[in-house]
Order: sequence, then structure tokens, then C-alpha cells
Amino acid sequence: MKILAFNGSPRKNNGMTDRLLTVFLNAAENAGADVKKHYVIDLDINGCKGCFGCWWATPGKCVQRDDMDWVLEEILDADMLVWASPIYHDNMIHYLQKLRERTLPTALPEFILNNGETKHPGRYKKKRQNVVIATAGFPEESAFDVIKRLFPNATQIHLPASQTLYQAEEIPIIKEFLGNVVVAAEKLVNGEEVDNELKRKISLVYPPEVKADIIRRHNEMSDKATPSG
Ligand SMILES: Cc1cc2nc3c(=O)[nH]c(=O)nc-3n(C[C@H](O)[C@H](O)[C@H](O)COP(=O)(O)O)c2cc1C
Repeated sequence: MKILAFNGSPRKNNGMTDRLLTVFLNAAENAGADVKKHYVIDLDINGCKGCFGCWWATPGKCVQRDDMDWVLEEILDADMLVWASPIYHDNMIHYLQKLRERTLPTALPEFILNNGETKHPGRYKKKRQNVVIATAGFPEESAFDVIKRLFPNATQIHLPASQTLYQAEEIPIIKEFLGNVVVAAEKLVNGEEVDNELKRKISLVYPPEVKADIIRRHNEMSDKATPSG
């Protein structure tokens, strides 16, 4: 299985999203997957111009020449796409959204009904699995409401209050969560189902006392970091 991962965080490998993504990708690699990762901020990818040239003038090909030329080839070759994003203002980070918009050449212009909703069929037969790996600063699951809507068919891995990763050894539920991320990666690579129970475990919800502690620690850290005077 070929896995192509995009990390949208501008903090790249200094960020929390990359830490979580690395747990997933290492487990996938150990399970036999062929894994490749890009930091989207390093790619030269312009926004979609909305000209629809990729539908009618040059079907399947964008009018723009930039890194999306070869990134699209890699996307078409992959069996699984991993969209790794920090939540910014309740949303997926815009670097990933820009890349996603440029995948329009992979869709056909026709309208088709799918469970009562109008969609575009794919231009190519091959189906790809999508996995979302998202981290947020706030401790609530609601931080991921928008990204869930953006990828309704993806396996979603969510870590709220991602700063807890710094204390992964001290907070038992973080250790458990990471263990479940490994299990999910292995199952996906082996073509097994990620059942509802596992789905629930890879979308972390903090008990009230842990949430209160997260808020207290955050405010202490912020007070120390704020210049006095
Ligand atoms: C501009 C900006 C906006 C953010 N907006 C939100 C937000 O709406 N909700 C939230 O829970 N966290 C928000 N965060 C926090 C990040 O989602 C969180 O720290 C994330 O884990 C960062 O990932 P990274 O270290 O990989 O960049 C925001 C951070 C930044 C810099």
C-alpha cells in the first residue's frame, strides 16, 4: 500500500501535528506500507484559478505549471492520502485547502446523485482511502466539527489540546490514545475495518478533570510567557 501524507502545519517537524502524524506513519510503515510525506508549506502550489480548464479545455490537466504537476501524479498513484492539519480558526489549515482545491482535475464535470446529494464522479477508477489527522489547541472535540464535515468518508484521528503530547508519558489517556492510533494504522494497512469503538478511541475526548487541568496548565504557562508591565 502506498501512503501519501501532507502535513499542512507551518511548524513542520517542530509541531504537534507532525508528532502525531509520525506515530501513524511509523506504524503504517512497520505494517508494510510504503510511506511518503510532504510539508505543504515547502511546495510551490498556487490556488485554483477557477477557470475549469481542467474539465473542458484540457480534460484532467490544470492550466497552471507548478509543483501540483508532480504532486497530482503522486496522489493518483497513492492508495491512501493522509491530510494532517492543525485546526486554525475552527478550520483545516488553508495550505491544505489550497492543495485540495487543485485536485479538481481528478473529478469529472458531470453531476451525479449520491444518496440524494449532488457530486462529481471521479475521472479515474482507482479509489483512495482518506485519513485525517488533526490537532487543536482547545480541549474540546468540537474543535474538529468543520474538518469532519470536510472529509465525511475519511478515518478521522483527532487530538484536542495537542500540547498534552509533551506529557505523553504522564497522562495515561494520551498513551492509550497513541496506542490506538498505532492499531488503527495497522488495521488500515492490513485492509481491516476500523470499527466504531476504535474510531471513538482515536478521536480523543478528555474527562472533565483532565480538561480542567489542561486549562489550568495553559493559563499558568501563558502568564509566565507574557511580558510583565
Ligand atoms: C492562527 C491560529 C489559529 C488557531 N485556531 C485554533 C482554533 O480555532 N481552535 C483550536 O482548538 N486551536 C486553534 N489553534 C491551535 C492549533 O490548532 C494547535 O496548537 C495545533 O496543535 C498546532 O499544530 P502544529 O504544532 O502542528 O502547528 C490555532 C493556532 C493558530 C496559530
